[in-house]
Parts: sequence; C-alpha cells; structure tokens
Amino acid sequence: MTAVRASGLVKRFETTCAVDGVDLVIDEGEVRGLLGPNGAGKTTLLRMLFGLVAPDSGTIELFGRAFDPADSKSLAGVAGFVEVPSFYPYLTGQANLELLAKLDDGDANSRIDAVLDRVGLAGRGGDRVSGYSTGMRQRLGIAAALLRAPQLLLLDEPTAGLDPAGLRETAALVRQLSAEGTAILLSSHQIGEVEGICDGFTFMRHGRVVWDGTAEQLRGQAPAGAYALSTSDDAHALALAAGHAGVSIIDGPDGRLTITALEGALDPYVVALGKEGVAVRRLELLVSPLEAMFFALTSDSADGTDETYALAGSTRAHT
Ligand SMILES: Nc1ncnc2c1ncn2[C@@H]1O[C@H](COP(=O)(O)OP(=O)(O)OP(=O)(O)O)[C@@H](O)[C@H]1O
Ligand SMILES: [Mg+2]
Repeated sequence: MTAVRASGLVKRFETTCAVDGVDLVIDEGEVRGLLGPNGAGKTTLLRMLFGLVAPDSGTIELFGRAFDPADSKSLAGVAGFVEVPSFYPYLTGQANLELLAKLDDGDANSRIDAVLDRVGLAGRGGDRVSGYSTGMRQRLGIAAALLRAPQLLLLDEPTAGLDPAGLRETAALVRQLSAEGTAILLSSHQIGEVEGICDGFTFMRHGRVVWDGTAEQLRGQAPAGAYALSTSDDAHALALAAGHAGVSIIDGPDGRLTITALEGALDPYVVALGKEGVAVRRLELLVSPLEAMFFALTSDSADGTDETYALAGSTRAHT
C-alpha cells in the first residue's frame, strides 16, 4: 500500500514559495530520504504532511485516504517531528514520554521502556532532558514517535548532531522499522549521513523536486567520485590513468593527485598500478559519487541541469 501520495503541493509565504508544486510518493516499508540544502522546503513539506501548515494547493493522501487536518483520525499511525523534537527540559526523558503516552489512546505507556531501549537511551530515561546532549534529544524524539507504533514516521533531520556511533545505531533502527513495514521519510542536507539508509531519494531545491528515484537509479546516474591519491611513482600513475576509461587524474599545483573515477573504473586502475609495481600509499575518498550528484543538483550552479536529472529520475514506477 502507498503510505503517502502527495500531488502538486504548493505553499507560499509572503515573499517565498517554500514548496512549489511537489509530488511525493512513499510506499509501505520504504525509507525515503528528503534531501536539500538549507531553505529548500523540506521542513515546510513535512509540516504539510503533519497538517501543521495548510497547502495553498495540492492534495495529500495517507494510506489511501484523503488527508483532512481537521479530522484527528487522519493522522492515526503517523508520528515524528519537525525541526528539533521538543520536550519539557525540567522533566526526565521518562516523564516526558509518560506525558505523551497519556495523550495517546491505547497501550503507549507500556512501551516506554522498550522504546527507550530501542533508541539507546535505556538507563538514561531517569535523567532530566535539560542534561541531555543534542544526540540524546534526537534519540528521545525518535523514542516519542515510536510510542505510537507508527506505520508512517516523518523525521526532520533525525541524524543532525549524531556522532558516528549514533548515526550507525539510527541507521540500524530505521532499517529495522522499515523491515517491520513502517514507511519512513527522513530529511537531511547531508547525503553522506543517510545514503546507506534510504531506498529512495527526493532531492529538493528552491521548493521544487529536482530529482526523485530509487537509490539504485541514483547510483547509476551519479557522476564520478573524487579521491586523493598518492603513490610511490606519481608520474607513472598519471601516465597509466590515460589508458583507463572512466578514470581521470588532476595533478594539483601542490603536486598532489586528485583522481575522479566512475563506478567500476577505480578497481581495475588500482590493480593495474600494483601490476606495474606502483605502490598506492593513500587513496582517500574526498567526494562520494552521491555527494557529487547532490551538489550538482542542489547547488546554485545547478541551474540548467535540473531538467535533465528530473527526467532521468522520473522512470520510477509506483504501485
Ligand atoms: N513561517 C514561515 N514564514 C515565512 N517564510 C517561511 C516560513 N517557513 C519557511 N519559510 C521559508 O520557506 C523556505 C523553506 O523553508 P524550510 O524551513 O521548509 O526549508 P528547509 O529545507 O527545511 O531548510 P533547513 O535545511 O534550513 O531546515 C525558506 O526560504 C524559509 O525562509
Ligand atoms: Mg528544515
């Protein structure tokens, strides 16, 4: 079943069109990354899906039903947060969740320990939220959303402020929830933080969708990644690159080599270096292919390329 089907969403503020004709489809169990730089319209789109902001035009269906913000049942099975999750700072994490559980019907209260455990806050639920770090607040925000046992989770920048271990744990949790059938929309302006988590991506820029498709399609269309290269014989490495399609090397003014390589082209080149007796001393990813794609689509120099990418990404079939 389709969890979210939004068509032609528009939201204007006085001087800005924050969301400018956005279509979005999220299937059950799908993890969708909503990517875009600051001001792209991600939070405004999430606010509309929560009924916190009324669209100027366009329609939203949640689980096949027309979304009516006036009907509290419209948001049954939907949970999450926009911007930063907020809590009473002078209460403990546990007490905050107890208050939220009271607002929900059903057995949310009995799930508090389990959700704290699930987000890695077991043992910290008794501490006041004012003493929580940014990452702990993010986790508590996810815990609060999980109290509702949601079928659709809308998370605005859930990875912001997480350390590498926190990122890995959040990624694992999101993948587990998806495996249980929960549809998840998570926004971010850092593709590196979410590229391994998402099944599909929607890239926004200036309120518009500039690319939409599956992770596989994105990888297939991504430009070359960039790597720093240092070898035992850089001149030989440069000469060898000339014979390898999909690999190009820039010899920087500081004598350092930067190599760009299309997917699948790097490994044969590195193997060839070894065969020629050239030792690779450093090969470090500078810009991943997906980051390169994200910058190409969403930076201000992206004008003119939008249509090409939007067309290339529009082949995705929805059921
Ligand atoms: N309540 C509001 N009143 C006026 N303008 C607004 C309002 N909310 C958002 N905007 C404008 O709409 C545009 C999109 O904002 P939005 O917060 O949706 O972007 P975002 O992609 O979430 O950005 P960020 O990554 O910084 O969170 C911005 O230009 C913003 O200034
Ligand atoms: Mg935002």
